[in-house]
Amino acid sequence: TQNIYILGIESSCDDTAASIIYNGKILSNVVASQKIHEEYGGVVPELASRAHQQNIVPVVDQALKKAGITKSQLSAVAFTKGPGLMGSLLVGTSFAKSLAFGLNIPLIDVNHMQAHILAHFIDEDGFNKPSFPFLAMTISGGHTQIVKVNHYFDMEVIGETIDDAVGEAFDKSGKTLGLGYPAGPKIDKLAKLGNPKAFKFTKPRVDGLNFSFSGFKTAVLYFIQKQVKLNPNFIEENLNDICASIQYTIIGILTDKLKLAVKQTSISHIAIGGGVSANSGIRQALKDGEAKHGWTTYVPKFEFTTDNAAMIAIVGYLKFLDGDFAEQNVMANSRLKI
Ligand code: KG4
Ligand code: ZN
Repeated sequence: TQNIYILGIESSCDDTAASIIYNGKILSNVVASQKIHEEYGGVVPELASRAHQQNIVPVVDQALKKAGITKSQLSAVAFTKGPGLMGSLLVGTSFAKSLAFGLNIPLIDVNHMQAHILAHFIDEDGFNKPSFPFLAMTISGGHTQIVKVNHYFDMEVIGETIDDAVGEAFDKSGKTLGLGYPAGPKIDKLAKLGNPKAFKFTKPRVDGLNFSFSGFKTAVLYFIQKQVKLNPNFIEENLNDICASIQYTIIGILTDKLKLAVKQTSISHIAIGGGVSANSGIRQALKDGEAKHGWTTYVPKFEFTTDNAAMIAIVGYLKFLDGDFAEQNVMANSRLKI
């Protein structure tokens, strides 16, 4: 057997990340999250790009060190080509190109959305890999997609958001409630203490498997503004119930579409990824789906669901086995499609 060491680099949004994978097993997975955006209530592209430039060298050094290898042992360098913020992508792309060139080893370009899905193929004790075909639902602050996965690199987007991502629905509703950024984890925590049916928010009507969350966010905002006018302490007095009701509605939107996707494709194996898959309500809904609808569900280890470089490294490994390499003139693509 070959000894294949791949360095994966991720810099598409606000996390600078590097990971080493050895024959399919993750040796290191380093992430530098950019705290700076918290003050602004969202990711500021200019600041993200600058922080990537500061972080990338130490993050890669740390990934190598934690893996216990040196640069000269690398078999290839894999990086995120897109989609993402252009200024952020450029930092990882340029760094990966020059490193691969300097070491005279192959360069491998990776689609970030494919990587979220293929993270399920990282060797990890206690986690099963999905069998083909399966449905993948990627839910995060930047993405909301349902993808039919026929094989590693044979994927088809069958549903996606036409406006905001589901994570934004959590974050922007949370902002209205004064919960800070990102609000998703806080809503999750408070929702556990509240009544999910206390307040009713209408679900958006979107045809087929597509999603829409911008109307939902506005509905929450108007509802809260109206109630606060009647009772200035409305939020404090009802925070748990509001969070539980918001989360309940969002989960309903996601599971309705999943049910429809299963029906349309006759595929009942479902893998989820992205930061929102940490949500305890969505995890419970998937478990319920196993009992109620006969689904088989896959939830990866948390560190492989949020933006990370291990998912880039596993794709790098799979592409390396295929001999699928990029040229030195490969360009970042902020709108790269699956
Ligand atoms: O994947 P991720 O770390 O970054 C990208 O957006 O790519 O996802 C971050 C998103 C944020 O919107 C955050 O509020 C949400 O995931 N999130 C959650 C939870 N943990 C993170 N949303 C709901 N419940 C959670 N437990
Ligand atoms: Zn992502």
